[in-house]
Amino acid sequence: MRLKSLKLNNYRNCRDISMDLDYDKIIIIGKNAQGKTNILESIYYLSSLKSPRTSNIKDFVKFGESDFKVSGELFKSDTDISLEVEYNLDKPKTVKLNGLKTTPKNYKSVFNTVLFSTQDLLLLRGTPQDRRDWLDSAIAQIYPTHDERLTKYSKIRVQKNNLLKSEETDNSLLDVFNEQLVITGSNIIYTRQKFLSELKKFAIDKYSGISSSEKFSFEYSFPHFELEDIAQALREELSERRAEELARRQACVGPHRDDIFFYLDGSDATKFASQGQHRTVVLALKLAEIDLITQKKGYSPVLLLDDVLAELDDLRQNYLLKSIASTTQTIITSVDTLLFEQDFLRNVKIYNISNGEIV
Ligand SMILES: Nc1ncnc2c1ncn2[C@@H]1O[C@H](COP(=O)(O)OP(=O)(O)O)[C@@H](O)[C@H]1O
Ligand SMILES: [Mg+2]
Repeated sequence: MRLKSLKLNNYRNCRDISMDLDYDKIIIIGKNAQGKTNILESIYYLSSLKSPRTSNIKDFVKFGESDFKVSGELFKSDTDISLEVEYNLDKPKTVKLNGLKTTPKNYKSVFNTVLFSTQDLLLLRGTPQDRRDWLDSAIAQIYPTHDERLTKYSKIRVQKNNLLKSEETDNSLLDVFNEQLVITGSNIIYTRQKFLSELKKFAIDKYSGISSSEKFSFEYSFPHFELEDIAQALREELSERRAEELARRQACVGPHRDDIFFYLDGSDATKFASQGQHRTVVLALKLAEIDLITQKKGYSPVLLLDDVLAELDDLRQNYLLKSIASTTQTIITSVDTLLFEQDFLRNVKIYNISNGEIV
């Protein structure tokens, strides 16, 4: 798939940007704080209705303005599709496909992107929450119902927490919430397990393409794979730890407490890996996401590389640029063009951005 054009109105520091993106490789050059990340964020938002930087839609509205609009033309399976997200401070956002209003769920299944930013390079050093966020966002590109399950799960969890914090906990109501959490939670865990096992084949292969001196692996923290086993184990854990939840007055059991463990030659990579090895892990995961989406959907997602090349050494940079298939449209941001080989630059479209404008 290819994003042929992008238009931004009052999005972050971009008042009015219109870009022709009908190229395989695009580089956006600009000094710090000019709007490079904002542009990639807007493309990611156009595809997923999410941003790694905020969950508050108001943050996208240009300071002092009351609305924003992001739109684009996508070319996919021999068809042009227009995408549009519009938001006004006092109304819910509207999303449109080919000019017609649709639901976020329908909308999100159309355009796929993989965003790789410097923040991702900290995945292994981050919190379990960071790793769950990465995982859930990656899953949502392939299984759009995952987001809805997460929302539902967190609503029930809030209700359960309120109940646990109340003066006297109604035990039968706690049972009801726990059973609802088991049903939604086991589906979340099941999808996470399934996604990770699908991703694993590709990720191990990518890792060994960059470094063959150690063996890479990872696993999800919940040790069950089949939906019924997961539900049963969750039910048992909720019952075993009921007293603890009552004492601590919070929900301590469920997928909101899970994590992903990464291993190099069997040792915990979070603790023992060098900075270079961390980067190889994240690079392998991102490249694996592209392959998995391509396998599942039958077309390659658009790859967004935000400032990451500068953070990678020559070996990893070369591997990244060489392993991006020519069919993967890639939009790269960078402070300058010095990093890129002349050969690469000959075949790319370069834009310069300054103060939220293409110059
Ligand atoms: N809602 C907003 N309205 C106006 N400016 C914004 C908004 N959100 C962020 N900015 C500005 O955008 C700039 C950062 O842009 P960014 O894309 O992160 O820069 P970079 O080119 O370094 O990637 C900052 O100057 C920040 O103040
Ligand atoms: Mg930036």
